[in-house]
Amino acid sequence: MVDFSGFYKLTVDERLAKLKAGGLVNDDDIKLLKDSGALKLDLADRMVENVIGVSHLPMGLATNFVINGKEYVVPMMIEEPSVIAAASNAAKLAKESGGFTAIADEPVMIGQIQFVNISDVEKALQIIKEKKDEIFTLAKSYAQQIERYGGGVKEIHARILPTIRGKMIIVEFYVDVRDAMGANTINTVLEGVAPTISEMIKGKTRLRILSNLAVKRKVTVTAVWKKELIGEEAIEGILDAYAFADSDIFRCATHNKGIMNGIDAVALATGNDWRAVEAGAHAFAAMLGYKPLTQYEKNADGNLVGTITLPIAAGTVGGAINTSPLAKVSLKLLGIKTSKELSMVMAAVGLANNFAALRALSTEGIQKGHMKLHARNIAVLAGATSGEEIDTVAAELAKSHNYDVNFAKELLVKMKK
Ligand code: MEV
Repeated sequence: MVDFSGFYKLTVDERLAKLKAGGLVNDDDIKLLKDSGALKLDLADRMVENVIGVSHLPMGLATNFVINGKEYVVPMMIEEPSVIAAASNAAKLAKESGGFTAIADEPVMIGQIQFVNISDVEKALQIIKEKKDEIFTLAKSYAQQIERYGGGVKEIHARILPTIRGKMIIVEFYVDVRDAMGANTINTVLEGVAPTISEMIKGKTRLRILSNLAVKRKVTVTAVWKKELIGEEAIEGILDAYAFADSDIFRCATHNKGIMNGIDAVALATGNDWRAVEAGAHAFAAMLGYKPLTQYEKNADGNLVGTITLPIAAGTVGGAINTSPLAKVSLKLLGIKTSKELSMVMAAVGLANNFAALRALSTEGIQKGHMKLHARNIAVLAGATSGEEIDTVAAELAKSHNYDVNFAKELLVKMKK
């Protein structure tokens, strides 16, 4: 594995050279990375409508992640400073206790069909129960492709849903979508079987769509942070911060936002639908009244144990992963193939970011660290190029609490004299 110590002090070219020397990327990947992901206008024009440009985000690597004993470097795409450094730092501290332990469900997604205008919903439900085998066989015929990869339709459930527009029948299909995010697989099954069920129950078909509340596709990650490393005061602070979020929805929204900083950044870097991941996370948090997605407690040794559980519907094949050249480089850097493993990495990053945020917020506050990183950006903007120039100018900016680019330029001129 590549030695990532001091990675942040290198120039971009030096970092890329290190990745290449470690066999993590090749020259083509480097070309792509330096060419802002090489999403050309004509490809963008085929991806969405009315294209007039392409936007870019910085992509960085979070280091020090050890998950179930395996080392990872994690590509993160995000415009906010501190998030990548915070994740790396939290992972480094967790590494001292063996890193993150993760388990993930099989990648089962839920799809729903809505039937309305049914005169006798009880009878309709009975018919569906009686014809379940027939519906199951039909559903399977629309999921042959995913069956070839070991997935397929797993379960069918039907229920009566009382609504403001009367009682409806909702039929749900659980489909193992393997390494895809699964929207296409699920929606194909739903649209395929809906006319037959509609005919059976004499009901009108309305919606046929997957649910983003992917409760069958959950992931749980745990880490221990030793009191000798972070101090008892930090542990008490994090426990207080967790208690605050657990009891107050205003704080809880921000608590969960900090978790999603990390999860979304990995979703973006790997070409995943981060809105789907967001929707699933927040809906899951709301299932028992809106709650934190992470929990913290002290173990018998007085160390801090952090746990995150949430559904993550993210894939390693299909969708934008196929069209976005950078997504492929990200997956290569991660060294993963399955959606299960990707979800474990994403959840570990979410936990790491949350730990780092709570630790900083409950002790020294986040602005000090944030401004330190911001100072490095200002130094680069002012024209600092070498690691030494960046560090020296950034240190001066932080010392004087003046983050003006012109001041940074003056410092640089003085330095070079
Ligand atoms: C900022 O992007 C995220 C935090 O607000 C998260 C939190 O408050 O826990 C720092």
